Amino acid sequence: MTTDTTGTAARDGEPRRGGPADSAFVRACRREPGPHTPVWFMRQAGRSLPEYREIRANVGMLDSCRRPELVAEITLQPVRRHGVDAAILFSDIVVPVAAAGVDLDIVAGTGPVVAEPVRTREDVERIRPITRDDVSYVDEAVRMLVAELGDTPLIGFAGAPFTLASYLVEGGPSRTHAKTKALMYGQPELWHALCARLAEVTAAFLKVQVDAGVSAVQLFDSWAGALSEADYRRYVLPHSAAVLAGLADDFSGSRRGDGRAEPERSQGVPRIHFGVGTGELLGAMGEAGADVVGVDWRTPLDQATRRIGPDRAVQGNLDPCVLLAPWSVVETEVRRILEQGRAAPGHVFNLGHGVLPETDPDVLTRVVALVHEVSARPAD
Ligand code: CP3
Repeated sequence: MTTDTTGTAARDGEPRRGGPADSAFVRACRREPGPHTPVWFMRQAGRSLPEYREIRANVGMLDSCRRPELVAEITLQPVRRHGVDAAILFSDIVVPVAAAGVDLDIVAGTGPVVAEPVRTREDVERIRPITRDDVSYVDEAVRMLVAELGDTPLIGFAGAPFTLASYLVEGGPSRTHAKTKALMYGQPELWHALCARLAEVTAAFLKVQVDAGVSAVQLFDSWAGALSEADYRRYVLPHSAAVLAGLADDFSGSRRGDGRAEPERSQGVPRIHFGVGTGELLGAMGEAGADVVGVDWRTPLDQATRRIGPDRAVQGNLDPCVLLAPWSVVETEVRRILEQGRAAPGHVFNLGHGVLPETDPDVLTRVVALVHEVSARPAD
């Protein structure tokens, strides 16, 4: 290793690359030192922004995800407004599932609604594997964005098999995931067939985004926290690991014979793995093959990093509701999280879940400035 004039590490003989790969965000994901703690917000592209509401006024959600120019504009809105360290592609976790032939819609105020919920082997077979052509609008949008964003990294994403399966089996959002768990416990073979098919679709969807130039990917397993660790390991982890290992293979070429996630971090784009209420699952979610584990507000980051281990960075974890409190409360919480994040080998500041629509966007802008100011590291 050599050290350059900014005090950052570079491999011997390898020129420093510049661009998004050298950004504060990608550096933190890779557990490398950077100029400040990077910050972005889950659901930063969405209903907290008046310019988003305006542009979406007469366009359905799924429709808007299929128009590259609109996707690019909505993705850029929070970057322009807040100065966040990364953009996240405007899309939805059900976009690839719709492309795979599932009849569904995203209903405002409700979420994804599936016309014929998955119940049988035939239903699983009807979920087709996808190719780039099935989601050419995503490929196009990512390429436009990468050109437009310059040094700002673009995060691609997908839903993990469990969270997608929950929408497909329930037919829509669910508090208990009762039908999903009934299928998982009662028909494990069908469950694994469904998750294996969803893992295939998800991996293909992420690969399209990586090939088009995203700098990192986030796998959202938003509802995995509904499971015990034992059930997560048995019914879910192998499928999420297949998705994440598939991405690592494209870059490191180090496939493990037993098909499990390789323990080394990917040589390619960093992989972030996130869920809500996953305090008991943090270690397992890291083992599934993440470079960065997303943490919600329930687990302090210093505790989280002890559970996850020293080989992975953490992302999080301001309670989105705190943004509705007076600024002095927000400031105290942001400072606490930055302090606790110092225990981790890398920290990407974020919320513990998505931005709530009623959030004042100016508060988000102030949080970005505060994170940058408090965490600034002098170049030596
Ligand atoms: O983070 C970003 O800004 C990128 C865009 C993004 C959206 N959905 C846009 C969206 C991302 C990353 C998602 C992922 C997503 N979608 C998840 C995982 C993240 C999480 O929140 O846990 C899940 C579970 C979904 C499914 C989904 N889609 C829900 C629960 C909802 C909310 C329903 C509602 O209207 O309250 C959606 C719709 C959705 N996805 C909206 C946006 C901006 C709102 C639709 C609108 O503006 O009309």
